[in-house]
Amino acid sequence: MPHNSARAIDMSLHLHSQTDPRRHEQDGPLIITGGDGVHVRDDAGNRYIEGMAGLWTASLGFNDKRLADAASAQFAKLANYHTFNHRSNEPCIDLIEQLAALSPLSPCRIFLANSGSEANDSMVKLAWYYQAARGKPHKRRIISRNGAFHGSTVMGAALSGLPHMHRSFGMNTDDILYAAKPHFYREGQDGESEEDFTSRLIEELEAMILAAGPETIAAMIAEPVMGAGGVIVPPQGYFPRLRRLLDKYDILLLADEVVCGFGRTGNWFGCQTFDVVPDMFSVAKGLSSGYMPIAAVVMTDAVYQAVADEAHGNGVFGHGFTYSGHPVACAVAAEALRIYLEIDVVGRARTLGSHMLAALSSALADHPMVGEIRGVGLLAGIELVADRRTKQSFPPQMRIGAQVERACRQRGIIIRNMGDVLALCPPYIIEPDQVDELVRALVLAIDDTRESLAF
Ligand SMILES: Cc1ncc(COP(=O)(O)O)c(C=O)c1O
Repeated sequence: MPHNSARAIDMSLHLHSQTDPRRHEQDGPLIITGGDGVHVRDDAGNRYIEGMAGLWTASLGFNDKRLADAASAQFAKLANYHTFNHRSNEPCIDLIEQLAALSPLSPCRIFLANSGSEANDSMVKLAWYYQAARGKPHKRRIISRNGAFHGSTVMGAALSGLPHMHRSFGMNTDDILYAAKPHFYREGQDGESEEDFTSRLIEELEAMILAAGPETIAAMIAEPVMGAGGVIVPPQGYFPRLRRLLDKYDILLLADEVVCGFGRTGNWFGCQTFDVVPDMFSVAKGLSSGYMPIAAVVMTDAVYQAVADEAHGNGVFGHGFTYSGHPVACAVAAEALRIYLEIDVVGRARTLGSHMLAALSSALADHPMVGEIRGVGLLAGIELVADRRTKQSFPPQMRIGAQVERACRQRGIIIRNMGDVLALCPPYIIEPDQVDELVRALVLAIDDTRESLAF
């Protein structure tokens, strides 16, 4: 390999996100050079169906012309402006008007940010501000859950209930309480029904709240479906009961809709699928189909009114980012939301999602390496196991999920493995025959891996 090749430069200069650096120095990057619809191409000319929409983002695939035109028109008209000190811009206003119309919180207020992590950090700061405004400044703690992923900023990582997000960082998690992961397949006890499992989770959470003292807890944050934690669909009745419990102890509910927002679970927002109304929710990723870095926090009027009074007393709301409400990012997001309505992403997620789950079930339900197939809307997780009967996992050092992921690429598809859970989250523009192709290649890749293990 020439030392100045793109590959060599990446291997010698780039510290990648969520990557083993030493492995990267050996293996190098997958360099993606182009996209068309649901496909991407690498620098060796291989073409893949992108079964993960990138990083749960590219709802409209990888080269939507209308989004490109929206960006280019806005670049030509006004490429940069900010929203500090009462400044606004037209695309920003267009976007918040559309987002408010879709929001399950009505009336609502919207704060704009640039990433899911920033949006989640902002929700926590808003929760603290709100509690202080109500004369409850001691309500500081935040409840999160084991298995959660809420981002990589200091607060986002602290909220994340994944050990690798904390290890060696010396994270201060003193004010975070981690509730159980709501995964019936793994956490349910012998003989326990799904409803009983929900009851136990809620009872355990109540005990945790009482032990910590409800007067010390500001909010709980939760993804409607846990994404990076392994596509965990909550058990029956979980969120409505969670909401009632939090209300009882005057604790806010913050929904992290960064993955679930904009149709993914078969409704505009995941909280609608699971029948719960949060006090605030964060969105990012799908907001612009992942084409521009943009995120938002949508909050109830009650939260806003308390925050606004407090900020007025302080003379300013002391929070915000240079690129909050960036005109180009907003123009692209506003156009994405228009397209979502036009192509009915919610309807597409429902029909394509049931097609995908049915195809997965018919091909893999009895597969010796598959323990659970789970999902909702156009989102699925497949958990690989060494023994279906005992649910025994493979030893982590075998890196089975990573082997399947590699085999998938050899079969012309891209998926994501989180340990031994394989995730599928394709763009909404995927067609049923492409779903079939995706599932077929996935099954072959699992079989390739099984053969290489010779069992
Ligand atoms: C549920 C969830 N919340 C928050 C984030 C963080 O978003 P970002 O990487 O844009 O900061 C992610 C990213 O994958 C996510 O999946």
